[in-house]
Amino acid sequence: MNISVLTIDGPSGAGKGTVSRAVAKRLGWHYLDSGAIYRSLAVAVLAQQVELTNSAAVVAVAQAMRLEFACQEELQIKLNETDITAQLPSETTGNAASLIAAYPAVRAVLLQKQKDFKQAPGLVADGRDMGTVVFPDACYKVYLTASSKERAKRRYKQLIKKGISANLEQITQEIDARDKRDSERAIAPLVAAYDALIIDSSDLMIDQVIEAVLSLVR
Ligand code: DC
Repeated sequence: MNISVLTIDGPSGAGKGTVSRAVAKRLGWHYLDSGAIYRSLAVAVLAQQVELTNSAAVVAVAQAMRLEFACQEELQIKLNETDITAQLPSETTGNAASLIAAYPAVRAVLLQKQKDFKQAPGLVADGRDMGTVVFPDACYKVYLTASSKERAKRRYKQLIKKGISANLEQITQEIDARDKRDSERAIAPLVAAYDALIIDSSDLMIDQVIEAVLSLVR
């Protein structure tokens, strides 16, 4: 059966999560938050006090971890039967995720877990390499970006809203460092697929971005 896939890639804080969830809901399609998979692995690695630089040990954690996704109002994730949803958004988790995501063997282990999300009637897949590596044959591809200043502001507001303390200047620096690492890594770097529609959301309202993406699918 032909299952439609819409990929939404881009740097952190570009609005991919909000846009992807809204579009998936409007289309009645499944939603893959691939960043949450890398973040869950980071939580497992940190909890087991495995060195982030020990790639073989990180791969072993990736192979052993059991993840369960439940999507009610909000995405809920269980790691080895423990709810870790609240630990996913922090910058500590995000930065650790970005570090371990650079290991080719880690990406290889997590690849099939991501592909398994492709189910009828369709999938909206959000990440860095959805349109280039995980679903290169996707029917619709978007690369959503925004200036790093704007993205840092959005991430700051998001964290504050979740009750997590944050510092705008530090977030800006972390976003720049994370962009650099995600874009320059040798495997599956953050890059727009050649056939992706590029949307710069710096000066757009979120509803305008959602409509632009929906009109691509329609
Ligand atoms: O989208 P996010 O901020 O939740 O992702 C956290 C980190 O995970 C990101 O900095 C890099 C990594 N990641 C990745 O390498 N590939 C993906 N498809 C998604 C996330």
